[in-house]
Amino acid sequence: MLKTIGKFLLAVAAIVVLAVAGVFAKATLQLGKIRDLPAPRLAVRTDSATIERGRHLATAIFKCVDCHGRDLGGREPFVDAGPLGLINTPNLTTGQGGVIRRYDDALLARAVRHGIRADGSPLLIMPALDYVVASDQDVAAVIAYVRSVPPVDRDHEPSTVRPLGRILYGIGQFPLIDADVVDHAAPPMEVPVGATVEYGKYLGSVGGCIGCHGPGLSGGKIPGGPPDWKPAANITPAGLKGWTETDFITALKTGRRPNRTPIDTIMPWRLAGQMDSTEMHAVWLYLQSRPPKPFGGR
Ligand code: HEC
Ligand code: HEC
Repeated sequence: MLKTIGKFLLAVAAIVVLAVAGVFAKATLQLGKIRDLPAPRLAVRTDSATIERGRHLATAIFKCVDCHGRDLGGREPFVDAGPLGLINTPNLTTGQGGVIRRYDDALLARAVRHGIRADGSPLLIMPALDYVVASDQDVAAVIAYVRSVPPVDRDHEPSTVRPLGRILYGIGQFPLIDADVVDHAAPPMEVPVGATVEYGKYLGSVGGCIGCHGPGLSGGKIPGGPPDWKPAANITPAGLKGWTETDFITALKTGRRPNRTPIDTIMPWRLAGQMDSTEMHAVWLYLQSRPPKPFGGR
């Protein structure tokens, strides 16, 4: 009897080990899988007005500097998730340790919109879900800006996903790669700049408001965020009940709600607060145009 139970337990243990090894192997393949996706051809102008537009976009709208650093020289560690892995952001300048020389304009546009490295492998964390709809003109301006920044000499270790992180990724509990889930066929949103709901929706998409606060803007746990991150707030008209447009702009510029309480810096208000008045107005109009919802359904 005991012998039979022993054999049974051994068999169960063997199956568990095999299943985990299978998930691990599949995740490892997926993490390095080359994606054969055409790189968008864009006309990149390099006049000073375009570069200045690109600087504004990389700061206040796309917020590239939030992750890649003010000087775009990269950050190490960017996210140290202990046993799950270590994510560093690369140096996007032409200095020593910079990666930008490996990218022509088309490959750079593909990295931004689709989250794919020059060699076709998927990028970790790069928010392609937000950027896939970025307009040709805006992507081109950001590229012009990135190429114009002064070189920074800074080398980084590449990011690594550790075994536990791979297993969690493999069972879908650690969303690391936007390139896995983004609709690569989504057409860019070509919306004229202006204080309109449509332009506000565009800014809300490429600016990450929708990515963090959810497609319904009602907030909740941010997918893929560390467990200690505060949930995103409800920014539908129900969540911002009683707020005026001035309260909204003040909140983004100062990081304080109308009742003076501070807004956590997971909310990138320092960068979003640098939107110009047309952009602020457009985003406010968009938020106000959405149906009110209770907190937490994203
Ligand atoms: C939320 C954080 C975040 C934001 C915002 C972000 N990136 Fe990244 N980016 C990353 C991370 C993390 C990596 C490295 C991924 C890896 O190691 O697999 C990366 C990698 C890249 C790469 C690939 C470089 C290489 O190693 O080959 C390029 C190019 C890039 N980012 C450009 C941009 C640009 C341009 C913007 C703004 C439009 C931007 N990123 C915004 C996090 C971010
Ligand atoms: C990286 C994720 C992230 C992005 C991107 C983001 N938010 Fe937030 N936001 C948060 C979090 C988290 C909170 C809650 C902070 C807290 O609890 O202190 C928040 C809070 C807010 C608040 C305060 C509301 C309240 O009642 O507390 C406003 C307003 C807001 N966000 C608007 C925006 C807008 C507009 C955008 C796009 C321009 C945006 N957010 C982009 C994560 C984000």
